[in-house]
Amino acid sequence: MLVLENVDALYGKSHVLHGVSIEVRAGEVVGLLGRNGVGKTTTLKAIMGMVRRTSGRITFDGRDLAGVPPHGLAGLGIAWVPEERRIFRLLTVLENLRTGLDRPGIAPARREQLLEKVYSYFPILRERRSQGGGTLSGGEQQMLAIARAMMLEPKIILLDEPTEGLMPRMVAQIQEIVHALHRDGVAILLVEQNVPLTLDAAGRVYIMEKGAVRHHASAAELRADQRVIHEYLGV
Ligand SMILES: Nc1ncnc2c1ncn2[C@@H]1O[C@H](COP(=O)(O)OP(=O)(O)OP(=O)(O)O)[C@@H](O)[C@H]1O
Ligand SMILES: [Mg+2]
Repeated sequence: MLVLENVDALYGKSHVLHGVSIEVRAGEVVGLLGRNGVGKTTTLKAIMGMVRRTSGRITFDGRDLAGVPPHGLAGLGIAWVPEERRIFRLLTVLENLRTGLDRPGIAPARREQLLEKVYSYFPILRERRSQGGGTLSGGEQQMLAIARAMMLEPKIILLDEPTEGLMPRMVAQIQEIVHALHRDGVAILLVEQNVPLTLDAAGRVYIMEKGAVRHHASAAELRADQRVIHEYLGV
């Protein structure tokens, strides 16, 4: 469904991605692991058309994404939950969720259904629906960011380090949500530094180092033999 072939990307003159090839099939959870600064976020930004690319191809359902503007990507079924979460702090939880519904051709009844579905995934967001986004805890803000992405009814969610900085209880809840999305048939490209979570949630895993994919294996293989993980992640 989502295919990156030999993607090179730059920030100004600084060459960050070197021939990155990654594939995510429909309904698949794929992990992208690597230490700080190896190019994980840049890979997601390349998909979103937010960095300059010099070579390679990115396609979604066979369609070349070059030249598709970021808002067009949502229409194709690609949702992005950035590292820094970017919820609207001054809007209420419900208003934040409604921004995900702000698109043409969606019937009012469907909007209500989607809200109910998201609240069933995240009961805490129902409780907090009238609160300002900025008053939520870090974990709740992460939930809101994922919930808002779900309102787009995406085929794939690009999740950038969703558990970073969260307490263990919240990490477990995010892990549950990833499983639930998977059961619902939503594909996920999961960028993480949490190795156990990634090996639990993903079917296949890519490991990056210095702007390139160095290793690709099934999560089962990596669980059975963690040497590559030690080598590239030092954990
Ligand atoms: N806006 C930018 N301008 C210039 N260089 C950047 C920019 N953003 C990131 N970089 C550089 O690109 C490289 C890859 O960064 P990237 O954010 O993709 O790493 P990452 O794997 O997501 O790391 P982290 O785990 O810390 O989030 C790093 O060397 C970083 O310093
Ligand atoms: Mg990053």
